[in-house]
Amino acid sequence: MSTQTARAFHGTLVHTPQPTHLEVLTNTLIIISPTGVIQSLQPSTPEDTIPSILASHNYTLSTCPLTALSPSEFLLPGFIDTHSHAPQWSQRGTGRGIDLLTWLNKITFPQEARCADTAHATRLFKNCVAGGLKQGITTACYYSSLHIEATTILAQTCLEQGQRALIGRCAMDRHAPDWYVDANPDSAIVATEISIAQIQALDPSGSLVRPAITPRFGISCSDATLQGLGDLAARHRELPIQTHFNESRGEMEFTKELFPQFDTESQLYEVYGLLGPRTILAHAIYPSEFDIGRMQARRCGIAHCPTPNTTMDEFMVAPVREYLRRGMKVGLGTDCGGGFSASMLEVMRWAFMASVARKGRAGGEGINGTREIEEEISVVEGLWMATAGGARVAGLGDKVGYFAEGMEFDAMVVRMARWEDINQGEVDGVMSLVEEGDDMETVVERFVMTGDDRNIRRVFVKGREVKTLD
Ligand code: GUN
Ligand code: FE
Repeated sequence: MSTQTARAFHGTLVHTPQPTHLEVLTNTLIIISPTGVIQSLQPSTPEDTIPSILASHNYTLSTCPLTALSPSEFLLPGFIDTHSHAPQWSQRGTGRGIDLLTWLNKITFPQEARCADTAHATRLFKNCVAGGLKQGITTACYYSSLHIEATTILAQTCLEQGQRALIGRCAMDRHAPDWYVDANPDSAIVATEISIAQIQALDPSGSLVRPAITPRFGISCSDATLQGLGDLAARHRELPIQTHFNESRGEMEFTKELFPQFDTESQLYEVYGLLGPRTILAHAIYPSEFDIGRMQARRCGIAHCPTPNTTMDEFMVAPVREYLRRGMKVGLGTDCGGGFSASMLEVMRWAFMASVARKGRAGGEGINGTREIEEEISVVEGLWMATAGGARVAGLGDKVGYFAEGMEFDAMVVRMARWEDINQGEVDGVMSLVEEGDDMETVVERFVMTGDDRNIRRVFVKGREVKTLD
């Protein structure tokens, strides 16, 4: 990686350190060190005092170039995609309207199996990582395929392009085709260990890329494989763990058949040592009271993925309001390619829409056969889940997700369009125009609900510029 210099921005910063509060910092000076750490964050800083503030940090305008954000621009923390499958990048948008287990066998396993070819994996992952960065995804929690080589290529690609990532080789030794399955529990565990070692060799301090222990889900993993991965998690206390959890009725019924000794999936993962504060549970749609209690007690993170959940063969909505009410860690995931979109803006919209549906306005009947009336997810809560909440889910809550001195600088410059901007010529994108009297909450709402990657002009990860539109 090329060596970075320090940099500074002056203008408006917007972030959500708390789930329900949008903090707007105007006329703010933010100084980022050459290692990508926020060295200084000073709201309400008059422009003429900037040189002396830089000098107090031993910088000048030439050693620490300053970007003055225009009145149409603001800084936002980078998005954290807490659940994504890089090998499924090629299948997004296909295979809607079928149930999970059929979709896995018909569409997903054949796509993932293509990653045995390292040339395919290289091309696919380059496009996937670049596609995420372009849309402001500064951190992704990836499942790779079951291939060791492809998984290492994914880690290498993230390092080269500068995306922060958790990366897990999928462990899966049953209920998969014979051309895409771990031969037995031993080989699943050994391959996982090799994959962890190879990723750690690429980034020994885990400053950007870290391996994750990744049992695909109960159906794909024998008892011995789950036990082996649990043992690995006990030996590698620094590693995150990710799996699919309570995703569909069919999946839950089959899991129950396979593990009759357990009443619920939380019990299953807990017994094998896979349920804890490092665990990221994708979906968590149909938890029992017992499950929610265990997830909360074990301080698990939840990756809410509303796009796949509402476009398979059922309209399923996780009880996100309840998770938030309990103060649990909740993030958003694209679930590429079960999710059709790799845009976190789209996921935020979908989280909002799904929550309105769950609220059960039509006759007071909830979507999952319940009768509870839950308040919908606000745009601010959506943004929190996409940034600070997601960072906590990924185990990075003390590093990224919001702006503070000592945190690392993962951020994007958002450019909206104002009426005066269109008077000066064509503006890029289709985001709804900002009106004179709009407060920042309204501007952010316009961006989340109508913006796209054309409004994301520049993206930074750990201070490194990873996208530049102009
Ligand atoms: N459950 C097991 N594997 C998968 C997968 O690839 N995507 C989703 N959405 N659910 C899964
Ligand atoms: Fe998934």
